[in-house]
Amino acid sequence: MILRTALLLSALAVPLSAPLAAEAQQRTCAQSPGKVLEVCVEVRDGRATYEVSRRGQQVLAPATLGLGFAGEAPVRYTGLSDVRTGTVDTSWEQPWGEQRLIQDNHAELGLTLAGDTPLNRHVGVTFRIFDEGIGLRYDYKDVPAGQKVAVISDGTQFRPQGHYTAWWYPALGQERDEYLYTSTDARRITTAETPLTLERDDGLYLSFHEAALVDWPSMLLAGDGAGTLSARLMPWPDGTLAWKTGPFSTPWRTILITDSIGTLADSRIELNLNEPNALGDVSWFKPGKYIGVWWEMHLKRTTWASGPQHGANTANVERYMDFAAKYGFDGVLVEGWNKGWDGDWTVEGDKFSFTEAYPDFDMDAIAAYGRKRGVRLIGHHETGGAVENYARQMNAAFDLYKAHDVGVVKTGYVRHSGNIVDADGGLQWFAGQYMVRHDLAVVEAAAKRHIAIDTHEPVKDTGLRRTYPNWISREGARGQEYNAWGDPTNPPEHMTILPFTRLLGGPMDFTPGIFDITRGGIELTRRVQSTLAVQLAEYVVVYSPVQMAADLPENYEKNPAAFQFIRDVPTDWETTRTLQGKIGDYVVVARQQRGGKDWYLGAITDENARKLQQKLDFLAPGHRYEAQIYADGPGADYRTKPDALTITRKVVTAQDTLDLNLAPGGGAAIRFRALD
Ligand code: NOJ
Ligand code: CA
Repeated sequence: MILRTALLLSALAVPLSAPLAAEAQQRTCAQSPGKVLEVCVEVRDGRATYEVSRRGQQVLAPATLGLGFAGEAPVRYTGLSDVRTGTVDTSWEQPWGEQRLIQDNHAELGLTLAGDTPLNRHVGVTFRIFDEGIGLRYDYKDVPAGQKVAVISDGTQFRPQGHYTAWWYPALGQERDEYLYTSTDARRITTAETPLTLERDDGLYLSFHEAALVDWPSMLLAGDGAGTLSARLMPWPDGTLAWKTGPFSTPWRTILITDSIGTLADSRIELNLNEPNALGDVSWFKPGKYIGVWWEMHLKRTTWASGPQHGANTANVERYMDFAAKYGFDGVLVEGWNKGWDGDWTVEGDKFSFTEAYPDFDMDAIAAYGRKRGVRLIGHHETGGAVENYARQMNAAFDLYKAHDVGVVKTGYVRHSGNIVDADGGLQWFAGQYMVRHDLAVVEAAAKRHIAIDTHEPVKDTGLRRTYPNWISREGARGQEYNAWGDPTNPPEHMTILPFTRLLGGPMDFTPGIFDITRGGIELTRRVQSTLAVQLAEYVVVYSPVQMAADLPENYEKNPAAFQFIRDVPTDWETTRTLQGKIGDYVVVARQQRGGKDWYLGAITDENARKLQQKLDFLAPGHRYEAQIYADGPGADYRTKPDALTITRKVVTAQDTLDLNLAPGGGAAIRFRALD
């Protein structure tokens, strides 16, 4: 097993140049290990800037660095010193994931900026330069221990050179990250959330994001109409960006830079820039699949609230548990089990109790029922964004769940962003420093009880699952639930944008697998806008260590042949390859099962039918596989005939090429079962 800790990793760093003498130096550069990218940092005319070139061509023009603090004049930088360079080439193992072994091969460029204000006297800047992107972070060394400082500006800019298309939605909207993407000329960006992905006219991709977002506000990116993007941090109610005490480091600002769509989607820079596992042995969590008392509420057949239609009643939960046991699911999610759902919980979240169940939900009986059948309850804490109310109760709430064998809790924060009330009555955004602290505090409290967390309406994923592996998944985009509510539901292209935007941040609890697509023939914009094959392909295209089979049990029992794919597909992978794609048009992903030889492939197109040829050269050479192909059937079309599915089998090898005929709004899901 190749598993190295951070300590060993730094011991492997090879110094390329000795620390320079203390005198100010104005410019320094370093290249990525394969000499693909080069970063140069310069201090001139009071400003500190960095620029990035790729294969000798400037990609990001000189752009400013640095933060500003309350009580200080804007900083002038006077020099840079203490330059350190080195390289790291190692690999480490994920306890579970989209890829077991992760290579970390980067050059590091560290330096100290000298500034003319007390808190900016010595500002450490570290670049990690990979062949497919960079990370940069600040270290504010001169903030005295015990002194509370207010960060009031972030001068970090990004200046892409050339003409780009961007996939984005405006930041600071009330629905947080739950918006459809638009693609525009990148100069039209007002303020965007990250990951923010751009494609240059010649096919170069840039994706801006951050890694290791801890005790700091989320970074948004504001455009200036000329293509420059400036960091904009989600503020506290009084406009302060961040409160810090003593010396501190910021999260990493990350930029993926590549001309390969596969390299973009499969980059592991995000994980590499996070700290190693802080939780030790996490074998108490196992990736798996779940069903839930969930879609029936979104379809309004039952209610979260108490009353005659209450979904979370013991008999109904036991029915789901029987189904889970019969078909090999590990867990049953139950929403609406606890007191507090009876009013408008999106504004009255303070009424939620996380320890008191409605009388028709018998947690003891349900846990015992599950124990006999090898099925665990999956917990649910919907806070309604009443964060203080939840924070007060969460330890007791996790204790209660632990006593009932609950190993995964889905949390939720359904309240308009900007309306979350903090302890002082201030109105918080959904991902400022306050919520960043809260989300992690929940994960840490859960970890103490060996409980994993799946956050809905989360702060965006910045790779913290490496450090806190029990932060297994999140929502953080428009998921399947929007396909129940409608007007409009997610259009087909949504699934061809997510892999190159939101999913670059990490796993998503999208909740695939709706089989009853037409629901008695309601309009297209009020139902799932895909073929059935896409509902299967999503299990491969969207990575999450917990995957839901979101539809009602009876809908699966009506179509056992298609359901077989959901039963077979793993949620833990040896490796992943994004094989083809065009953002907003189509995507093809293959993943190899961890601890097995089988491969799985998912292909999804937008509203246009598409014929793709896919080489199978990812399969092990010299071996035979039975391809079990779940493809769009004759006449399949997401508008008129979404259910048409053809299941065929044929023997293939790595030498073969498969034709993928994708219907409008269609896709394909394939299991390659190893035969030898
Ligand atoms: C939003 C979540 O994303 C959804 O899955 C959940 O059912 C509702 N909140 C209610 O908590
Ligand atoms: Ca949601």
